[in-house]
Amino acid sequence: MLSRPRRNRKNQALRDLVSENHLSAKDLIAPLFVKEGTGEKEAIASMPGQYRFSVSDLLDECGRLLELGIPCVSLFPALSDELKDKTATESYNSEGLFPRAIMAVKEKYPELLVMTDVAMDPYSSDGHDGLVSEEGQILNDETLPILAKMALTQAQAGSDIIGPSDMMDGRVKYLREALDKAGHTQTSIMSYSAKYASSFYGPFRDALESAPKSGDKKTYQMDPANAKEAIREALLDQAEGADILMVKPGLPYLDIICRLKEKTDLPIAAYNVSGEYAMIKAAAEKGWLDGEKAMLEMLLSFKRAGTDMILTYFAKEAAELLKGR
Ligand code: PBG
Repeated sequence: MLSRPRRNRKNQALRDLVSENHLSAKDLIAPLFVKEGTGEKEAIASMPGQYRFSVSDLLDECGRLLELGIPCVSLFPALSDELKDKTATESYNSEGLFPRAIMAVKEKYPELLVMTDVAMDPYSSDGHDGLVSEEGQILNDETLPILAKMALTQAQAGSDIIGPSDMMDGRVKYLREALDKAGHTQTSIMSYSAKYASSFYGPFRDALESAPKSGDKKTYQMDPANAKEAIREALLDQAEGADILMVKPGLPYLDIICRLKEKTDLPIAAYNVSGEYAMIKAAAEKGWLDGEKAMLEMLLSFKRAGTDMILTYFAKEAAELLKGR
């Protein structure tokens, strides 16, 4: 037998030498939820190990993540219902919870990258990412100025990376122009380019109580049946000035990451979303699989598919494990 592939697997040292992909804390972005007030951190039932943090607890968490070598956090605000309205006014209140949280993190940890989400849902009484008309339509062009005001507020507060997750058409160009015009030429855009209308966002919507009040998100988020359309979306975002392209969710869409890698030279991010986290946590709690091993295997699969970075609620846990190796 001339070829014996098993020879390259005979012990750990050799397996390490021939290993094609590596997972590092430096690849990870940790999504974190921030809430109003100074109270205790609140556990999110459908995401064991994840919390809504007060600003001061958020700072402690950021410090810990930085120590573990995680370069970036992605922040989301959990707002009370009184602050939500049809036009997401709170999203561009420069004195609001979110800008205050961004400022606090950047002041304490200037070297930690802060990414912030741009979409109306955490601030919208309709629970949609765009403006909802009387007839229940999601209005594209009317939403863009609101997104721009939101992005400018976040950039002003110190956000390093703006992450439009709303899936409105033309928003990357609109935001790039608004940011540049205001002098934020160094604020990056990581576009949620191929964002699918997915059932895997359920636990996230519990965390922010941001589920749509009526209808679903299928007129703006993508149909899980489509792959070519994802490439079209991503290349549009690239042409509109995105710095990094994201595929979301991650695990059920690894094929999209692979295909996109062939079509773009921009860095690619995967969002390992809340439902993917919850699946592993739930199975591990039941003793049905080894949670740590499953987590590392899943994160490595993103690297193998071709991502440069992974947004994942496992960031801290994975970095802790990787550190011990
Ligand atoms: C908001 C947004 C969502 C997620 C990130 N940004 C929810 C949605 O689109 O309904 C989901 C993240 C996750 O499930 O972890 N537009």
